Parts: sequence; C-alpha cells; structure tokens
Amino acid sequence: MKTKINQLLQEVDAFVIDSKESLEQFRLHFLSKKGVIPVLFKDFKQVAPEDRKSMGMLLNELKNHAQEKLKTAQEALDTPDSKHSKGIDITLPADRFKGGRHPISIVRRDINSIFERLGYVISEGPEIEDDFHNFSALNFPPEHPARDMQDTFFLHKDPDVALRTHTSSVQVRVMEQGKLPVRIIAPGRVFRNEAISARAHCIFHQIEGLYVDKDVSFADLKQTLFYFAQEFFGPETKIRFRPSYFPFTETSAEMDVSCNICGGEGCNICKYSGWVEILGCGMVDPNVLEACGIDSNTYTGFAFGMGIERIALVKYQINDLRLFFENDLRFLEQFESL
Ligand code: PHE
Repeated sequence: MKTKINQLLQEVDAFVIDSKESLEQFRLHFLSKKGVIPVLFKDFKQVAPEDRKSMGMLLNELKNHAQEKLKTAQEALDTPDSKHSKGIDITLPADRFKGGRHPISIVRRDINSIFERLGYVISEGPEIEDDFHNFSALNFPPEHPARDMQDTFFLHKDPDVALRTHTSSVQVRVMEQGKLPVRIIAPGRVFRNEAISARAHCIFHQIEGLYVDKDVSFADLKQTLFYFAQEFFGPETKIRFRPSYFPFTETSAEMDVSCNICGGEGCNICKYSGWVEILGCGMVDPNVLEACGIDSNTYTGFAFGMGIERIALVKYQINDLRLFFENDLRFLEQFESL
C-alpha cells in the first residue's frame, strides 16, 4: 500500500491542470467517490492493525495534497490575470481603467470629437520643424518678430530648425500633399520661449483647424465655430468676433465666447467683461495657398487655432496654468477617470 500511495503522490504532482476540463478530470480521477484516493481508503480496512497508524497518516497526507492542488488550480483559473492560468489572453484590456485622464487630454478629446462629427479628420506633424513649414509657407515675412529668438526655440541656424511654435505647420504639411478638399484638425504640443507664469508656459497644446474647398466663406467659418462653441460650452453660449491680425489669414479675427461661468453677467474669470477669448481664426491668406501649391483663384479656406490649456482653464475655472504640468495628484484626482 505504501508504494501505491507514493506512486499516487507522484501522479498528483505530475498532473497538469491548465483548463476547467483538466481541473474536472483531476477531481474525477483522484478525489471523486469512485476516484483512486477514496478507493484506497476502502482498502485501508485490510491493513494490519499495527501498520494502521502510519499508513493512515500517509493516506491523509495524499488526500490533503490532492485537495490542496485542486483548490489552488481552481483559484488560479478563476482569477483572469493570474500568471498561473494558461490559455487566458493577458493582453486584453482590463475591465476597469485605474487612474484618471489628464484634464488636457479630456479637453483635447472633447474638442476632437466635436470636429470629427463635422467630418474633420485628425492630422499630426513633427514637433521639430523647418523654417518653411513653421514660418515661410505661412506668409511670415523674413523680418517678422515671431521668428526672433525671443519667441522661438531654435535648434539649428542656417538652415533654421526649431521647435514648432504653433500647429499651423501641420496645415502646410497637409496642403502640400495636394489632396483637396482639406478638412483637418491638428492637435499637438507647441513650444515658445516664454517665461513660465500663471498665464503662460513655454510648452502648451493647440488644436488647429483647416478647411479648404471651392467657395468656402467667412460665413462657413462663423457657423462652424458657433456650432463648436455651443457643443463645447453649452447651448446658451454666444460668440463674438473681433478683428485681428495673423500673417497666414486675411481676414483675421479673434473669437470670444460668452462667459459660461457667470452667463455673461461678469465675474473674475471673464474679468467682469462677460466674454472670454478662446481662439484665433481667419480666411487662409492666398499667399499661403499658393506656397502650398493650391490655386488661390479656385480655392478658398478658413483656419482657426486654439490653446487647449486656455480652454481647460475656462472650462474647469482654474486660475493657474502651471497646475497642468505639475502632476500633483491632489489636482489630477479631481478629474473624471475615463
Ligand atoms: N497659429 C495661431 C497661433 O498660434 C492661431 C491661428 C491659427 C490663428 C489659425 C488663425 C488661424 O496663435
């Protein structure tokens, strides 16, 4: 009997349980009523009385060992991410996503999805740009102050290579490909050589939009941005345009939205004006279209660009832009988790 017990101990150890089926086979073979271990217990009656004590201990050891193995295997199979379980795809996404999204990611996602609903596609470009894509093609005259070292982080001079100062560079890269019409939004990181304060940072995020087709007018621009403002800030939101200047647009404007905090009554977020400035926009300058190889007699377009941090400040009533970059959990934990 002793040999039989030892042999079964080895068999229990050698049995591979890697699925619900093999788990059940293991149970049936070793532990069920007619299984080999309970049968051995029946044979126990025939053991000589003087051997019973030691044999009984061995037999119990075998049974406990088998039961232990069954229990561990069962637990491993029930826990989906356990490393003991085979045949489970541990690369599948988890049911619950621990941690939260950064407020900048939330705002970028929400803005992207509004424009995607209007048929815009997302385009991306490099953060390190040459002079042509960041400045020249966008109608910046050679002596324009924005090219100055004050604003731009240059990585190389002659030829000029710099960290892009705006995502308008992506406009150029898309238009160059010559596939018309163009309807894109370009979200991304931009860099400017500015002192860090509550209202400015040397790294921030923009979303630029561009629509080029036949007969695109300023009315289209207004209607698109009006739709965006109401979708993003709420159906009561009003917009207004103020004349402005950008080298790459003509006519140019800045757009304000009615303050969604005080509803236009006046508060400290809108500095008691009832309005908050959120973006720059305009009709693409014909020079820009031509620089990108598009016939400006046939095609017109509009573009707009907004800072994601600025919109997030307004949306969440945050008064210091630096909070977005500090990764302070007390700040980040206040945002939704998905
Ligand atoms: N590129 C401009 C900026 O960085 C924003 C802008 C984009 C303005 C497109 C008009 C049209 O300030």
